[in-house]
Amino acid sequence: MGKPYAVITGASSGIGAAFAELLAKEGYNLMLTARREERLSKYAKALAGKYGVDVRYIVADLSLEEECFRVAGATEALPVRIFINNAGFGECGSFLDTPIDKELAMTDVNVKAVQIFTKQMLQRFAEAGDGYLLNVASFAGLLPAGPRMAAYYASKAYVTSFTRAVAYDLKEAGSKVYVGALCPGPVNTEFNRVAHSKFSFWGISPKRCVSYAYKQMMRGKTIIIPGLPTRLAASATKLLPLSLTLRIVAKQQMRREYSQQDMG
Ligand SMILES: NC(=O)c1ccc[n+]([C@@H]2O[C@H](COP(=O)([O-])OP(=O)(O)OC[C@H]3O[C@@H](n4cnc5c(N)ncnc54)[C@H](OP(=O)(O)O)[C@@H]3O)[C@@H](O)[C@H]2O)c1
Repeated sequence: MGKPYAVITGASSGIGAAFAELLAKEGYNLMLTARREERLSKYAKALAGKYGVDVRYIVADLSLEEECFRVAGATEALPVRIFINNAGFGECGSFLDTPIDKELAMTDVNVKAVQIFTKQMLQRFAEAGDGYLLNVASFAGLLPAGPRMAAYYASKAYVTSFTRAVAYDLKEAGSKVYVGALCPGPVNTEFNRVAHSKFSFWGISPKRCVSYAYKQMMRGKTIIIPGLPTRLAASATKLLPLSLTLRIVAKQQMRREYSQQDMG
């Protein structure tokens, strides 16, 4: 059998692009996916040249169910060992004002696509006897709710709850297959521009986020929280009354409009 492949969704920027670089460096062949073809093509060439691995890509809109199945199908002939379910986005603002079409597409990408790929890949990994599947959730998914980003926080709470339960099922079945949820706090990517949001805390680099995630994934940790301040915040919120947690989250969740210049 040839060298194993890692599949990364949302590989055209941010955390997904950082995973692509790290996994190529680790010697994995790659299958990348996202909607922006020019980015995928540029990264594929650069990573293949730099690390001497095979890098393929498939352009797909993962808000569409049939596109998720098409991507899963395109990986069937490859010896996939790692799957990073990373594509996702948010939208900031009061629920009365946020656009429903964007929110529904967000639920499709952040929730439905994650569930489709988890099912497809874990069944394959279970048959093969091993494999790693990492769902990129968020610190948001560890909180009870997210005022001013209601649907986004709820989508990430789905991912953490879902992943914990699937990890339990695998353990109970005695499986060696890994599933985990990555729950970062702020990471400096294109997330804010897409979500019309702004961090009230400093973000970590995507490189730091994925290097911590990879190590923890290889150790078999189910819920992965990069950065000590975020780990401390996760513990602290368990002790606070719900009303106070919601007030804090609402206060730090700020909307920001981005200009053409910000969009580069
Ligand atoms: N940045 C943070 O602070 C942070 C914190 C916690 C969790 N996260 C999570 O981390 C993941 C990656 O986000 P990021 O921060 O790296 O943001 P990003 O730089 O905006 O990257 C998002 C990626 O998702 C892809 N994507 C979005 N909609 C898609 C669609 N309909 N079909 C296919 N691909 C789609 C984008 O590719 P195209 O636009 O080319 O399709 C892009 O590659 C997300 O799940 C996000 O919720 C981020």
